[in-house]
Amino acid sequence: MKKDDIIQIIANKFIAQGKCLSEINGKKILIEDSIPGEIIRAKVTKIRRDYIEAVAVEILKSSEKRVTPRCSHSGICGGCKIQYMDYSAQLEAKREIVIDTLKRIAKLNNIRVNQIVGSDEIFFYRNKMEYSFSDKRWLIDGEEYSKEETQFALGLHIPNRFDKVLHINECLLQSDFSNRIRNFIGDFLMQRQATIHSLKNKNGLLKALVIRESSNTTYKMVNIITSYFDERLMFELGEEIKIHFPEVTTVVNNISSANLSSTLGHETKIIFGTGAITEKLLGYDFEISSNTFFQTNTKQAEKMFSFVQKVVSEVKIKEGNSRKILIDLFCGTGAIGIILSRYFNKVYGIEGVEESITAAKINSERNSINNIEFFVQDLNEGFNIKNLSKESDDITLILDPPRAGVHKKTLKVITKLMPRRIIYISCNPSTQARDIQEFLSNYKVNCIQPFDLFPHTYHIEDIIVLEIL
Ligand SMILES: C[S@@+](CC[C@H](N)C(=O)[O-])C[C@H]1O[C@@H](n2cnc3c(N)ncnc32)[C@H](O)[C@@H]1O
Repeated sequence: MKKDDIIQIIANKFIAQGKCLSEINGKKILIEDSIPGEIIRAKVTKIRRDYIEAVAVEILKSSEKRVTPRCSHSGICGGCKIQYMDYSAQLEAKREIVIDTLKRIAKLNNIRVNQIVGSDEIFFYRNKMEYSFSDKRWLIDGEEYSKEETQFALGLHIPNRFDKVLHINECLLQSDFSNRIRNFIGDFLMQRQATIHSLKNKNGLLKALVIRESSNTTYKMVNIITSYFDERLMFELGEEIKIHFPEVTTVVNNISSANLSSTLGHETKIIFGTGAITEKLLGYDFEISSNTFFQTNTKQAEKMFSFVQKVVSEVKIKEGNSRKILIDLFCGTGAIGIILSRYFNKVYGIEGVEESITAAKINSERNSINNIEFFVQDLNEGFNIKNLSKESDDITLILDPPRAGVHKKTLKVITKLMPRRIIYISCNPSTQARDIQEFLSNYKVNCIQPFDLFPHTYHIEDIIVLEIL
């Protein structure tokens, strides 16, 4: 078999990254754009040592779970990769992936994984969207473009093509406002012939656009990420936004060093407003600035945190212990610790980004939480909290790491500390399965609860509650 060959195959089970697994002559095939049970013709896209990658080009026998995607960019855009699947089938597939991953990696064979908690809104559910600028627009066959258009795109990356961006006219992930303002800003900057930053040549101004919109309040933030400060252009754009979008409460310009692709700024220029927005989560107020993490699906985050709240509210303090302690690792702007603070005598939050910790402190003051302390610590180096006592403290520990999971050094500190309960919230079941193996000799799995925070994408959020034996 070689690249570009067309093969006929039955898609077998759904695995990570929105792909189906199949086999030909003992060789594993990962197929994009297919649903288990479908008979398809697929084009081979990559030959790897252990497996072959292919993409469905013709569906010979379609699954009853296949639906027509609602978004006009579907199939090209890297955003919603599994929009062709009925939502209940997406949920089922994601739960199967959690079961399979825990069996395969953590060797947890006899486990019960709860039904996944789906999203009530399956479109327009995000409170944050990040769009990239590119001087190399992805050109679609049969469409006509002016020279300016071919050299200007504001949208989402084509899968596996970091140099090409699909210009987006309509995205169903955020809101109508978000679509209108992205298109307005794109048109404005293209007309002004603003230059686009190139990672290759390390020149040009525009890098990305982030739109943040609270779900439970009316705050809206526009953040333009550039490689340097073009004061005149940014204030002119700010004025235009004020006129055409009076609902925008703040516009900021994150200046991000020339050779980084990140949307984080080493400097933030406030064009107007306070530079932050406020979101409400389960009745608590949270300040979110342009460089701080916040859960991107507010409504689903509320369901997820309510679940954790229920788990900790049912905990009875262990006999002989005098204090109930919560340690919130990877705490971001403090959401989990603040929401759970009323169930504990003392809460400690640890996070690597200083700006997030500053916001976490502001958030705890704003919500009149007095039993919480936050520290900036790099969790790739373990962690250290003074005044903890293994003997008299009843400790619950929350882990909510990024996709890479928890560093070995931090896992080691946790196994030494032996908290009574570990609640591991993960956005990547593979690293979660890898990490919990460290705990399995001393803990039992109490509950596994997946959540779908990102309908139509292959991302899965999963909570595992572990209790000391
Ligand atoms: C998935 S977010 C969780 C945020 C928070 N628990 C919440 O719900 O809002 C992961 C957090 O880990 C932080 N982080 C990533 N790497 C880190 C590291 N090495 N040390 C400390 N924090 C880190 C990120 O800044 C981010 O705030």
